[in-house]
Amino acid sequence: LSTKISPTPIVDVHTHVYLPRYAAELRARSSAPRILTRTDAEGRSEERLLILDGEPGSGRPVGPQYWDRTEKLEFMKRHQINVSFVSSANPWLDFLPPDRAQTLAHALNNDLEEYCASSPEVDGFPNLRSIYGFGLLPLVPEGPISSIIHTIEQIQTLPHLSGVIMGTKGIGNGLDDEALEPVWKAIEKAGLVVFIHPHYGVDGKAFGDKPNGHVLPLALGFPFETTIAITRLILAGVLDRYPDLRLLLAHSGGALPQLSSRIASCVAHDPVVAKRLKHDARYYLGKLYFDAVAYGSEELGFVSETIGRAETYSSAGGSYNADFGSTRVLFGTDHPFFPPLEKSQTWRSVEDNLSAIRSVRSWSESAQAAVLGLNALKLFNLKY
Ligand code: URA
Ligand code: ZN
Repeated sequence: LSTKISPTPIVDVHTHVYLPRYAAELRARSSAPRILTRTDAEGRSEERLLILDGEPGSGRPVGPQYWDRTEKLEFMKRHQINVSFVSSANPWLDFLPPDRAQTLAHALNNDLEEYCASSPEVDGFPNLRSIYGFGLLPLVPEGPISSIIHTIEQIQTLPHLSGVIMGTKGIGNGLDDEALEPVWKAIEKAGLVVFIHPHYGVDGKAFGDKPNGHVLPLALGFPFETTIAITRLILAGVLDRYPDLRLLLAHSGGALPQLSSRIASCVAHDPVVAKRLKHDARYYLGKLYFDAVAYGSEELGFVSETIGRAETYSSAGGSYNADFGSTRVLFGTDHPFFPPLEKSQTWRSVEDNLSAIRSVRSWSESAQAAVLGLNALKLFNLKY
């Protein structure tokens, strides 16, 4: 006698692409962000990606894994990922003048729609396509809000784009900028998910001058940037005014879960801020979604617990809900970043995230299945 357990899909919500049109834009540039060709002593040439100002060495190798959809599908197959929600990698359109950002946003959103729409159906899940996407908005300094709103409307008409990816700068002044109010309003109304992703890190001087490769900016700079951006957004009351806004935070929200009680305490003791928010600052963690790109099971368990207690900090009162925590954490890979240094069949970065999800002590098998894929399908309103 055997009970057939129906397999549930594995869904990657954090996976990137540089579409060919975007890579061409980077190749045409002479300062970061750019793609440059380097020729070694033997005359072999290779392309390198230089995206951060003052990046150590001459950036990172870049190749078809960044733009070729076949490589994305190959990677998914290798790690048994059924569905990917692909987003443009940093730094998006941040560095462009407003006109160019607007033109490119529209063209890239159409490109991404085509990339997704023509992707194969998923074996065993006939209602799903293997790739969906997050679109781009022309979020640049001096960029007119009307063109951002216009692009939100464009994305709404593209059936395989279910959200937008954005950095932490907004139109130059961060995500707590009053100028973004109509943007949050339009995104909330359109029901798009906002994937918030870092790029700039923190002041590089903090990292000293030892040859530590990309470790400090990636391991610390990225998550601190996200932590600061979201804390500012919470302090500006954005989540009070747009309670249905769905924000997905990269890298499990950085240090936000770890610091949330400290943030709440600082708010409560600050005469300027104490009365501003409707709820204790910890409540807002329960309004957010967190990717599971944390590489460790204890960290994921901790994130889940801080989400699970969020309702207890509602000004209306509420109780601890362990399951609630695991409904807001979603598997991701960060592909094609963090490839194995030595040639190998599977990617350690991916295996670590998968096994972390499978070993969180407080998560049942159904909680694991939720984090691995079902939460994403729910967030993006997909049936399987
Ligand atoms: N490095 C980046 O520049 N972006 C990512 O998303 C991951 C690593
Ligand atoms: Zn990423």
